[in-house]
Amino acid sequence: MKTLLLKVDSDEPEPQKIHRAAEIIKTGGLVAFPTETVYGLGADALNPAAVRRLFEAKKRPLDNPPIVHVADPMEISRLVAKVPKKAQLLVNRFWPGPLTLIFNRSEVVPKVTTAGLDTVAIRMPKHKVALELIKQSDCPIAAPSANLAGKPSPTTAQHVYDDLNGRIDAIINGGATNIGVESTVLDLSVDPPMLLRPGGTPIEALRKVLGEIRLHPFVESEQELSLNEIRSPGMAHKHYAPKAKVVLVEGQVPEVVAKIQDLEKSYRLKGDKVGILATDETQAFYEANVVRSLGNRKNLSTVAQSLFRLLREVDAEGVDVIIAEGVSSEGLGLAVMNRLRKASGYHIIKAK
Ligand code: TXA
Ligand code: MG
Repeated sequence: MKTLLLKVDSDEPEPQKIHRAAEIIKTGGLVAFPTETVYGLGADALNPAAVRRLFEAKKRPLDNPPIVHVADPMEISRLVAKVPKKAQLLVNRFWPGPLTLIFNRSEVVPKVTTAGLDTVAIRMPKHKVALELIKQSDCPIAAPSANLAGKPSPTTAQHVYDDLNGRIDAIINGGATNIGVESTVLDLSVDPPMLLRPGGTPIEALRKVLGEIRLHPFVESEQELSLNEIRSPGMAHKHYAPKAKVVLVEGQVPEVVAKIQDLEKSYRLKGDKVGILATDETQAFYEANVVRSLGNRKNLSTVAQSLFRLLREVDAEGVDVIIAEGVSSEGLGLAVMNRLRKASGYHIIKAK
């Protein structure tokens, strides 16, 4: 399959290009597009054959449902059985934006779109290109992140191309995404609501609106959970894993730096090529084959923004091992740490 590349202005997307992409969605095809979090791979959410192709293209297990994207909060009423009061509060405050809500689904949503679950995940993205594409396609768009299953999520059209060229119909290139980690997933089919995936909307902000929110154990888990502990199917699958081995070092900053210096030396003496993912505050302290800063510890949105890109870039340098610094779990840090722990396959070292 030849993948069509459509470069657009991300603020003022050219209508004829969006129209071209929307025609592909309407006829059951697959189009990758930018959102404010990461790039999504879109298909008509109400067309079972199109959604099945989505799983195939990504090599995604069929038990892990995609998120259904809408361009207008009013669209949720036909997709869900009942809109809880709490949903209205959240939608008013956080949509459009990086918050996905889980509802009991209506009969309109095909089984394959929810992987056979009774619930459906819905979000309204805050990105002109995504919103225009959904509107022009005239259907809700099912869109998982536009990476091959198991790889870091794509934050540029180039990442999508590297993973999916020849496997999908089109890629809309609207530049790098702004937030860099995926949306927060909050389950409203239970009460109190439960956070299933930390993401671009901090839990602190959600608690201000809703009060009590439970954290699924997986969110902060430092080890693999067993299957019966899993609510969100995606939790079970291998994620964000570069080719290189990843080691995550957590603790107070001075101890973390000392531990990473030690680790780097021992890997080097073994003959390994080492990459270090440091922070602005610490990168000068390291000598290794590749040293990159994830961003600023006092502004974790910079870390979120570059995390997936740097995992891909350092991996592309052909290192044997990537040693990453842990950061604080506050605000966007909770999402960053969740992704780093998964990327390391829970190879976590506590620096003391
Ligand atoms: O920011 C994002 O959320 C991006 C952009 C493209 O919108 N999308 C994204 O989709 O990250 P994906 O498919 O990579 O992740 C969706 C997550 C998975 O962990 C999946 O298991 C969970 O949402 N999910 C989907 N439907 C669910 C449901 N009914 N119940 C529980 N979890 C669900
Ligand atoms: Mg994904």
